[in-house]
Amino acid sequence: MSSRIAVVPGSFDPPTLGHLDVIRRAAALYDELHVLVVHNPGKEAMLPIAQRLTLLEQSIDEGDVEGNVIVASWSMGLLVDYATDVGAGVLVKGIRSQIDVAYESPMALVNRHLAHVETLFVLPDPAHALVSSSLVRQVSALGGDVSPFVPPAVARYLDTGARGV
Ligand code: PNS
Repeated sequence: MSSRIAVVPGSFDPPTLGHLDVIRRAAALYDELHVLVVHNPGKEAMLPIAQRLTLLEQSIDEGDVEGNVIVASWSMGLLVDYATDVGAGVLVKGIRSQIDVAYESPMALVNRHLAHVETLFVLPDPAHALVSSSLVRQVSALGGDVSPFVPPAVARYLDTGARGV
């Protein structure tokens, strides 16, 4: 299995500036990077998967991301099944705090156990350390300005598209 292909998985509901920062860093490290929208049954979704894909594609296009980036979704089973299918030996995750380490470490060990897929943790820019999709969902639902926390494409969508304006 090649370690030159990697996957950045997540709910991306919605994509944030922290996500985009991790994608930008990972794209610079690998020949091919799959940004994979995975349905997380433990979270109530705000956006349909198709909308998250569109917003990720727009954000990456507009976001000064260099490299070979493929945006896709996966709902057919284990994340490592997708990684194995595309020949990826590495998952890349952003770590903002010790809470993320505690959340991500068991998944990394399980994924390595299941399919020998390693997880690479990267530190996003500290400017994004406190940004999360769940906070963005809450601020957006209550009518607040999310533009400091999300890529412009997401801000435009949440400001107008989500309301059908
Ligand atoms: O952005 P999120 O919600 O923190 O992403 C979590 C996600 C989607 C990466 C995680 O829930 C996941 O890997 N789901 C795939 C299901 C799977 O393979 N589970 C077993 C190993 S953890």
